[in-house]
Amino acid sequence: MKTMDDLFLHHVKDIYYAEKQILKALPKMAKATSSPELKKAFEHHRDETEGQVERLEQIFEILGKPVRGVKCDAIEGLIAEAKEVMDEAEDDGVMDAGLLASAQAVEHYEIARYGTMSAWASQLGLAKAVKLLDETLKQEKAADQLLTKIAASGVNAEAS
Ligand SMILES: [Fe+2]
Repeated sequence: MKTMDDLFLHHVKDIYYAEKQILKALPKMAKATSSPELKKAFEHHRDETEGQVERLEQIFEILGKPVRGVKCDAIEGLIAEAKEVMDEAEDDGVMDAGLLASAQAVEHYEIARYGTMSAWASQLGLAKAVKLLDETLKQEKAADQLLTKIAASGVNAEAS
């Protein structure tokens, strides 16, 4: 990676890989929860994630690069943690609190990445990419806020 263009492309590939992994993890998380609210939130975000993947494919096109992911160690770790919760939680409330924590960690990671990538795209004069990244960033922030609301509304209280 010699230039900011290289670094930007690397991050597009990294988050593309991450979104694909999230697409696979969310249905499992929706299945694992006994909370209808949380299930709905996971299913809704899975649908949103499909659109996010498409936006990234548009960015590859803008850059004139082939659509290709690169293994993202951060998301692998976060999803491994979610899997651990799903394998080990022995109580519905504990399961939900653990799933919420995992999902919020994923959202915070994505918010960090999309925020940085939007700033870089702006510096690189990629106005169309900025617009696409900001649309996704808005969805990630809304998803995070919804999870906070669900946690506050009782999922965590039930567990304790
Ligand atoms: Fe996402």
